[in-house]
Amino acid sequence: MGDLEQQFVRQVFESNYIAPAGAEIKAFERAFCDYTGIGHCVALSSGTAAMHLALRELGVGPGDEVIGSSLTFIGSISPVVFLGAGLVFIDCDRASWNMDPDLLTAELEAGEKRGKLPKAVIPTDLYGQCADYDRIFNICNSYGVPVVVDAAEAMGATYAGNKISGPASERVVHAGKGARASVFSRRVCKEGLTLASDCF
Ligand SMILES: Cc1ncc(COP(=O)(O)O)c(C=O)c1O
Repeated sequence: MGDLEQQFVRQVFESNYIAPAGAEIKAFERAFCDYTGIGHCVALSSGTAAMHLALRELGVGPGDEVIGSSLTFIGSISPVVFLGAGLVFIDCDRASWNMDPDLLTAELEAGEKRGKLPKAVIPTDLYGQCADYDRIFNICNSYGVPVVVDAAEAMGATYAGNKISGPASERVVHAGKGARASVFSRRVCKEGLTLASDCF
C-alpha cells in the first residue's frame, strides 16, 4: 500500500459510505477492465474467493477433477478442495516455472482415453510471468476444457502471443485475457513490470 491507496481509503472513510458496496468499487471495477482490456470484472475480498467463485460458476463439484500447476500458491488450488473436487497437478517447465504445456497435453490425452476430462485447468502466472497461453488455451479449447488463469501475481504483466493472428499490437495482451475467467490479487510493483524478481 502506498500513499495513493491510503488516500483512497481515507476518502471512503470521510464519505462514510463503507457498506453496502459504494461508488469506489464500481469505479475500481471499471478502471480494472479499462487497464486490462478484460470485458467484465467483479471485485471480491481476495484472490482465493475469486477462484472459488469462478470454479463454482463452472459447476465444479464432488467427483470432478481440476488441473492445477505444481508450483503455485495455496489459494490457487484450495478452492478446488472447498468444492469437493479432486486435484491433478501438472509440473512446470524449466524455463518459465509455469505449467508445462507438453505435460498438460499428455494428461488431457490420457483423460480423454479413460473418459474423464477435467472440469477446468488452472495455470498460474508465477511471479508476474504469464504461462504459455497460446499453447495452453489451444490444447484446452481442443478438448472443450475451460481455463481459469491464476493471474494473482501478474497484475500489470503482459503476454506476447506468437501464434495469435493479427497485427503485432494486438498480439500483446494483459495477463489473464482470453481465458474463461482470470483471478487477480496483489499488484506486481509500481511500474507494473512483468519480471517479478524485481518486484517481490
Ligand atoms: C499465485 C497466487 N494465487 C492465488 C493467491 C491468492 O490470493 P489472495 O491472497 O488474495 O487470496 C495468491 C496470493 O498471494 C498468489 O500469489
